[in-house]
Amino acid sequence: MSAVPELTLPVVLLSHRGPVSFVRDDDEVSATRGAGGLVTALTGLTAHLADAVWVCVASGGEDAEVARSAGGSPVRLALDPEPRLLDPDAEAGEDVTGRVLTMRLVEIPPEVHQPFYGVIANPLLWFIQHRLYGIGSHPTLGREERRAFEEGYVAANRMAADAVIEEVERRGGKAAVLLHDYHFYLVADLVRQACPDAMISHFVHIPWPGPDAWKILPPHMRDRILRGLLGADVVAFHTRTDARNFLLCVQELLGMPIDLAERSVTVGDRTVRARSYPISIDVETLKAVACAEEADQYLTALDAQVGDGMLVLRVDRTDPSKNIVRGFEAFGLLLDEHPEYAERVVFLALLQPSRQDVAEYADYLTEIGAAATRVNAAHGTATWQPVDLRLASDMSLAAAAYRRCDVLVVNAVADGMNLVAKEAVVINEHDMVLALSEAAGAHDELGRFALTLYPFDIAQQADALHEALSMPVELRHDRLAHAAEIVRRNDVARWLRIQLRELASLTPDEASDEAGDDVPIG
Ligand code: G6P
Repeated sequence: MSAVPELTLPVVLLSHRGPVSFVRDDDEVSATRGAGGLVTALTGLTAHLADAVWVCVASGGEDAEVARSAGGSPVRLALDPEPRLLDPDAEAGEDVTGRVLTMRLVEIPPEVHQPFYGVIANPLLWFIQHRLYGIGSHPTLGREERRAFEEGYVAANRMAADAVIEEVERRGGKAAVLLHDYHFYLVADLVRQACPDAMISHFVHIPWPGPDAWKILPPHMRDRILRGLLGADVVAFHTRTDARNFLLCVQELLGMPIDLAERSVTVGDRTVRARSYPISIDVETLKAVACAEEADQYLTALDAQVGDGMLVLRVDRTDPSKNIVRGFEAFGLLLDEHPEYAERVVFLALLQPSRQDVAEYADYLTEIGAAATRVNAAHGTATWQPVDLRLASDMSLAAAAYRRCDVLVVNAVADGMNLVAKEAVVINEHDMVLALSEAAGAHDELGRFALTLYPFDIAQQADALHEALSMPVELRHDRLAHAAEIVRRNDVARWLRIQLRELASLTPDEASDEAGDDVPIG
């Protein structure tokens, strides 16, 4: 990662997923890197800061065991070349080269974690914020959900907050506290009460809808979520729309006066700012994966599979918000209406099964399989399978596919940012067309150089696919070059730098040229 921010304050960071998770093979405990852009971005940050600790939830495998043996204290990880746990006793004499990161695992007992994660965070909050409910029938909130909120969500937030507070106090009560995502909406206020000198930001990585959508939750839940977030100095989002919607919720649901021009709200004697900082990717790290031998081998295989035909690609978690089923239906419609694509186009879908302990996600995975099968049954031949559906999480394969594809489809019904779009544009080698949902945060930055998809309209998506597949190469080349330049300029180091500078100054006027929200996109 280039040019990481300099910060004099210690940093205490909180997210549900951590930088690594631990597994045991025979007697050996090994660490595997966490997946996803957020984890990559934050790993780069924390490993470069002089005093930073990353608090996260012990989420499976050997994590709880590692947490227990550390007795609630942080553990240290060497990140290079592969992550490994450092033995605290041996460390002094050990020759550790490369980046070292301090991590504190919070063990949340299963009877708290299940309702916290499996009933409230996913699906309830996720579904409300991505507007996935058909409210004629879903959701129904009863005793179980009420209990899950109190005994799961509130309790898990308390446990995470206690760990954060301890780490802030260990640093004399003064630290930049960076809280992340929808799992921990109540933490900022708890930390504020215990550590009044901390500077707190809460970054919401998923869409924030307007007040009507939040009225699915009764006041005793939604008010606490909003008041929890108002414990922060900065509540941050990926887009201006999300930041504005947050303020509108504060106004309408809590009845508090807001200042839309300043994008702030006064809470007692404090000012809470709502800001937007579009997250990005670590271009160098991605390129290293994309150029490695493993990716090259995958690329050779893809070239052999596609030949001189065309490759349409999508890379997603199997999440209903990603709109995978409608994407396959649009592709089926394209093949119905354009028989000239027969035997010439493959739709490669690299899908990572996600949250299978939540019924809605398990059902959606079944629907995805059925939709792919329908397209293949209707159009496939002895030598051609139009949809190549692969359930896996393999960054090398994804990177090879990014390099080779002719069209990348992102048709999400709602998406905080969508880093897949940013990853593909910087490493594609085929003058790829980006077909990008208007409902993805990335559309604010990259929409000008993409074909916009309207996620509910499969006829429009089929037309857009046709337009992409038949677009003149000069135009494709030009658009891709512009999109790639935007991502290279607004990389993840810049995303972090701007936030930390603004948090450190806490007055937009004093911030540097780069500070302030809405990173320039042109
Ligand atoms: C989104 C969320 C992250 C979450 C990730 C994977 O990107 O913003 O907070 O970690 O999905 O979901 P999972 O439930 O597997 O952690």
